[in-house]
Amino acid sequence: MRTIEWNSEKKTIQMVDQTLLPQEYRRIECTTIESLCHAIRTLKVRGAPAIGVAGGYGIALAAHTSRSETPEEVLQEVESAAKKINNTRPTAINLSWAINRVMRAIREKSRTKEEIAETALEEAEKIADEDIRTNKKIGEHGATLLQNGDRVLTHCNAGRLACVDWGTALGVIRSAIKNGKEIQVVACETRPLNQGSRLTAWELTQDKIPVTLITESAAGHLMRHGKIDKIIVGADRITKDAVFNKIGTYTHSVLAKEHNIPFYVAAPTSTIDRDHHEEEITLEERDPDELRYIKNIQLAPDNVPVHNPAFDATPIENITAIITERGILHPPLSL
Ligand code: MRU
Repeated sequence: MRTIEWNSEKKTIQMVDQTLLPQEYRRIECTTIESLCHAIRTLKVRGAPAIGVAGGYGIALAAHTSRSETPEEVLQEVESAAKKINNTRPTAINLSWAINRVMRAIREKSRTKEEIAETALEEAEKIADEDIRTNKKIGEHGATLLQNGDRVLTHCNAGRLACVDWGTALGVIRSAIKNGKEIQVVACETRPLNQGSRLTAWELTQDKIPVTLITESAAGHLMRHGKIDKIIVGADRITKDAVFNKIGTYTHSVLAKEHNIPFYVAAPTSTIDRDHHEEEITLEERDPDELRYIKNIQLAPDNVPVHNPAFDATPIENITAIITERGILHPPLSL
């Protein structure tokens, strides 16, 4: 079952509400651009490839729900939706990449109102289908780096829930297991929103893939005691000089270097941003209450100042290799 898909009967976007996992698996529908933007902002749909697909479908939704008469007016409405969706989360490049791709297809191919809607959906569906094929290829390449018996640490969730299906970092593990290797996953909790404990642990246990949950703080201890053979994470954006991923990734990379543990990044080439350097990228700063509360339970004083960056940048020199659908990029990573 796809994490996110277009419902062609209702002309809506259907997705797993990831904020409810692991307690409840529920599929929700976005019928308006406002509800889609809310779903992206609140991480009902999250993970770089999945929000890219959400962005693509968002353009299709705007075109299909438009009440405007002329193609020019529809295009204006779609452009305004594109801006709104693009502003929901700043760090993952996949969002703007997918939106721009669908907008380009519309501008190149569509003359009438109906054509705008058809082209938008066609391109968005292509992006969604490609995501699965791409992840399977990343998996095949990445599986060659894993050995039977490896204990692999991962951070956040770069699995099927972060994509349409299969996953990037977890896709590599799935492919290695499919090829007959025994792999054990060590999943970091990933505070403050716990994508590791809520989502990675959930999807791996669903698939009966051996997984042990740890806190972020336990990672160094395990590495020092030889309990981690490899690290694989996903990425939200890869610039010439850094890999942006969930906050805490940089810390794991430094620990990996200290303990001579290979540190791999698994990501589609659409995540590569050749036009920017690290300092030009906006790191999303999230709501302070994500640290002060868990659901309704208060964890910190209401008035304590909080710094809550959602992502960090890992210098490219800390990375052993980047696993893409086109193959494995080894250092020096001249992107
Ligand atoms: O804030 P999130 O949950 O969207 O962050 C997701 C990550 O950092 C993932 O590791 C990244 O998007 C890669 S997903 C294949």
